[in-house]
Amino acid sequence: MAIQRNRSRKRLVLIAASIMCFALVQCHRKSPNEKYPVSTTPGGPVDPQLVKKIYDMKCAICHGFDGRQQYAGAKDLGASTMTREQIITQIAEGKGTMPPQKDVLGPEQIAALADFVLTLRPK
Ligand code: HEC
Repeated sequence: MAIQRNRSRKRLVLIAASIMCFALVQCHRKSPNEKYPVSTTPGGPVDPQLVKKIYDMKCAICHGFDGRQQYAGAKDLGASTMTREQIITQIAEGKGTMPPQKDVLGPEQIAALADFVLTLRPK
């Protein structure tokens, strides 16, 4: 009888610990806006320096810091003729070896990156 009670208490402790772990993980999961802010104030104007940081982290490995590198078959972004909408779709969905970002970045980050890509074209 005593052993039985001890076992069920252990199980309860285990269940409680699992619930707390799950809650902790959920609380620490950051949204794309928290993880990759495009503005210094939430909902504020887009800060090009923050967008460049996201580009350097997520895109420069193939496209280079200036957009001209063509690693892994990446296209020269300065020579691109895509529209803003097409760029947004390609960043979100990916293409070939280019990885999709829609589960990593939010629409704000993707739109800001598309605007940055457009600035890489010769004036
Ligand atoms: C793993 C390498 C890789 C990474 C990382 C990468 N790309 Fe690409 N990118 C490619 C490849 C490969 C293509 C050509 C796809 C094709 O047309 O087959 C491409 C094409 C593009 C194009 C289309 C250019 C055109 O006119 O056809 C844009 C715009 C672009 N990338 C932007 C980005 C942005 C912004 C990021 C960062 C979020 C990014 N890429 C990250 C490999 C990459």
